[in-house]
This record gives sequence, C-alpha cells and structure tokens, in this order.
Amino acid sequence: MSLDLSVFNRFAITKRAGDIIFCEFEPGDAFYLIQSGKVKIVKIVGDLEKTLDILNPGEFFGEMALLEEAPRSATTIALTDVKLLEFNRANFEVLMQGQPQIVLNLLKLFSKRIYDQKRRFMILTLDDIQARVADVFLMLDENGPRPIDPTDNTRNFANSVDDIAHWAGISPAKASEVLKQFANQRRVEIQQGKIIVKNIMDFHRLVKSKRQG
Ligand code: CMP
Repeated sequence: MSLDLSVFNRFAITKRAGDIIFCEFEPGDAFYLIQSGKVKIVKIVGDLEKTLDILNPGEFFGEMALLEEAPRSATTIALTDVKLLEFNRANFEVLMQGQPQIVLNLLKLFSKRIYDQKRRFMILTLDDIQARVADVFLMLDENGPRPIDPTDNTRNFANSVDDIAHWAGISPAKASEVLKQFANQRRVEIQQGKIIVKNIMDFHRLVKSKRQG
C-alpha cells in the first residue's frame, strides 16, 4: 500500500548510518515512516544485541509507545542514511482532521503489522525445524508477488540464509543445514543470491502435517 506523503515534508528528518533514533525504555510520543534507507530494530539482552527486524522504505515504527502509552519496546538504529517522516501526537491529530484517508491507510498498515507478528509467531510454534523453515518460505510467499501463471508452483526468493534463520528463530548454521537437506531432497535449489523452492505446495503439505501432528 503506498501513501502520498509529499504534503508532510515539513515533518521530514534525516539520520546518518549508525545513528540511534531512539532507545528502548525511553518515553516516546512519535512514530516514524521511512522514506528512504533502512532502520534496524534491536533489543539489548545482557551484552548481546538481538535484531528483531530490519525495516525498509514505506514501513513505519514507533507506533507502539504512541498507541499504548508505554515506553519504547526496542531501540531503533539507522542502518544506512535514512529519511524519515516524524509524526507526534500533535501533528497526528492535524493529520486526522485534515487527511482522514491517510489516517485510514495508516490504520490498515498498523493492523497488517499485528497480523504479520501473529504470522511470525505461528512459525515459532512449530517444533519440527524443517517445517519451520518451510513455513518461513510460505510466509515470504504470502507477502510476495503472485505468479503470472497460477498453476506454476515454483517460487524464487531473493532471501539470504541469514534471513531464513532469523524468521525461523534458529542459527544461520542450522538454517544452512536444513536448506542443504532440502537441496539433497531436490525440494530447493540454492543459487547465488536466491533460493528456488521447486514446489511451494509441497511445503504447504509439510507444514500442514506438522501442525496437525
Ligand atoms: P515502540 O515500542 O514505540 O518503539 C520500538 C518500535 O520497534 C516499536 O514501537 C515497533 O514499531 C517496533 N518493534 C517492536 N518490536 C518489534 C518486532 N518484534 N518486530 C518488528 N518491529 C518491532
């Protein structure tokens, strides 16, 4: 869903790669839409930095503190130079009065975020690691473009092994091992910069059998 936000250029701010946008536990009264660049969402657990997500242009963050009146649930860092639109409570109210269509679109994005988080959680409830990796491909496929030929069950994914590991909640080494097993079973083909799933319906069946079992 794309929003024409050019009227809001006065809310634009920029950050340099590596800048912290805000820290976990801080109070917050603004949310941000990414216009360009990438933003990393992290949580510090002990001495470790755990990446929760990497967001791209068109995505937003910081809505939880605003909607729930709670402290920031994570730290956000500019992964590259970024251009953001910053909406605080005051200018959000101006937005509601003047541009209800944009507010409606934002609500749709918020509800999609809630759906996406539930969908990710479903992956983590699978005990079988092969099924988890298969379900990651199903989730990526649900969010990807529809094939031109609806009977074509081959899918190309421009995702790295690290991406797959991240969504499956397993280490990159484990994800690599599972992908090799799938490759040996001729279920996937791993090429430079892409992973080809030969038959997405096969992964549907695998996940379904492990969810019921
Ligand atoms: P907020 O709590 O205001 O500040 C941190 C932001 O990170 C949060 O709003 C969400 O926008 C985002 N966020 C928190 N947890 C996750 C997660 N698990 N995955 C993706 N984004 C998250």
